[in-house]
Amino acid sequence: MNELSIFPIGTSINQSGHLAIAGYDLVELANQYGTPLYIYDGATVKSQIERLNQLLKGYYPGEALLAYASKAYLSFQFARKLARWGIGLDVVSLGEIRIAQKAAFPPSVVHLHGNNKSEAELQAAMDWGIQAIVVDNLEELEILEQMAAQRQQRVRIWLRITPDLSVNTHPHIQTAHAESKFGFHLENGEADDALQHVLSSPWFEVSGLHTHLGSQIFETEPYRMAIEMLCEFSARNNYIPPEISPGGGWGVRYTPTDPDDDAEQWVRTVSGAIQEAAIRYDWPYPRLVLEPGRWLVARAGVAVYRAGSQKTTPTGSRLVAIDGGLADNPRVALYQARYIARVVERPLEAPTQTVRIVGKFCESGDILIPQVNLPPLKRGEHLVVPVAGAYQLSMASNYNYAARPTVLWLEDGEIEVLQQREQPDQSGWLVSE
Ligand SMILES: Cc1ncc(COP(=O)(O)O)c(C=O)c1O
Repeated sequence: MNELSIFPIGTSINQSGHLAIAGYDLVELANQYGTPLYIYDGATVKSQIERLNQLLKGYYPGEALLAYASKAYLSFQFARKLARWGIGLDVVSLGEIRIAQKAAFPPSVVHLHGNNKSEAELQAAMDWGIQAIVVDNLEELEILEQMAAQRQQRVRIWLRITPDLSVNTHPHIQTAHAESKFGFHLENGEADDALQHVLSSPWFEVSGLHTHLGSQIFETEPYRMAIEMLCEFSARNNYIPPEISPGGGWGVRYTPTDPDDDAEQWVRTVSGAIQEAAIRYDWPYPRLVLEPGRWLVARAGVAVYRAGSQKTTPTGSRLVAIDGGLADNPRVALYQARYIARVVERPLEAPTQTVRIVGKFCESGDILIPQVNLPPLKRGEHLVVPVAGAYQLSMASNYNYAARPTVLWLEDGEIEVLQQREQPDQSGWLVSE
């Protein structure tokens, strides 16, 4: 498989032989904006959104809504674009709610997740009148019911149902197994109790059911099974769900050898399973709410680093250190995510060395790529890591007082700064007097 196929769609090799995105030379961008530098290709995000919307139109006969899982990457500028494009949003915190409000999302397309929502988060969601608060557990149900009664306000909710299914992905990104911290479990009957309770409460409008299996999933069968279980559960409780969300989680290719990641089989399966249930139980088609995060933004983003110190260990490993790592990309340390890298200045040069790319942070586990074949790198040259658009910036930290990086958006011949590099002396997080 061609390596460029996992880079943003606007990637090319320019006349200087450098890697370019949307016509911009990455060496020049790195020199101008500094590194680590994160770059999003607008055309790729738009094309992913269009693809999913088209697939939903083609496969699902009822109404459908694409709701971006904002935990994958969110900033105010990016949220404004999403709102303009008319897609929905899955938020999980007061911070994400505030960004969605400021970006002018209509509340009718925003839903709130979380296994331990604070009263302030529940309150903000109720004040704003969002599409649904996704109730996660019995304690939250009680608190929300009390709050609704106190406010004399009926609240629109979904229930998050955990079908106790294990899927084939890293344990840290599974969410629907019997040990999961998320949702009402089917296996022990708590989901049935919860549904009966909310249906009989005057304070709840139960507008839908939700389940999310996990992330980086390439198999459709768990989705089909989960939807079947969700609908059977609904039917046995005499509940006809106006909305059903099978979550997000469809995988993306981080390396050229990963499985095909086109979303067609995913959308076909979830649409088919919901349609079948609607026919079986004689329901009108529920609104299908898909919640992808990674699939919409991962491929659109790249990370550009500057190569620094290099050494060969006594055991013969060749190490190349870059000026980022664990602080801007904790995915490798969290769940052994795999990446490739290319030399920005010489992407076509044949690799002659196997090296380990390590970060600059004070952890031995700060390894970005355990093994990658590259041409010999000179200090000051740049490495680009593709598929960097999801769960990197949003999980970035200030470890070792690192500043979170600049984020650029390239589209239609224009560069937009989505986020400025943090400045320790300006933003107040280094010293507050
Ligand atoms: C409830 C929920 N929905 C959707 C997503 C998005 O998953 P992905 O980015 O893999 O599509 C997540 C990710 O953790 C999630 O927790």
